[in-house]
Amino acid sequence: MDIKVIEFNDIVDAKNVKRPMGHLTPIEELKDVPFEIKRIYYLTRVPENTIRGFHSHKELQQVLLCLNGSVQISVSTPYEKEFITLDDPAKGLYIGPMVWREMYNFSPGSVLMVLASEFYDEEDYIRDYRKYCELAQDYYKSLSKI
Ligand code: TYD
Repeated sequence: MDIKVIEFNDIVDAKNVKRPMGHLTPIEELKDVPFEIKRIYYLTRVPENTIRGFHSHKELQQVLLCLNGSVQISVSTPYEKEFITLDDPAKGLYIGPMVWREMYNFSPGSVLMVLASEFYDEEDYIRDYRKYCELAQDYYKSLSKI
């Protein structure tokens, strides 16, 4: 499955200052994330027990970061499924094309930020799970022939 947990640079020291200064996490396109960042959006104030996502993208690549609190993500294809907890603002989850994702267990006050490789395009979404399974089987079969 085309997913990857990315550990970003977590800078905690601040030029010769002895007291704690907090964390700083820089993210640069094509260096820290494997695409040009065309869009950023974030989910905030998600009510308890809400599950979001329930879709795949045909081509879009994304990196998900939980800037505050925690959130759990399930990512799957017709062949594999993984569960990732995002609870550290210096950790990101890269999700490539044709991966079904669901986001759940948003902690109160959590902020889920998404870096995306393309502008918003509803045509790139696959929101029907059965349709996704059909398309994904063809997609992964064609990949295995390369
Ligand atoms: P959606 O991607 O379905 O959210 P989630 O997967 O987090 O549940 O988007 C929810 C709504 O927001 C949908 O009507 C499309 C709209 N939207 C935009 O207009 N621009 C965007 O960049 C995104 C991500 C969504």
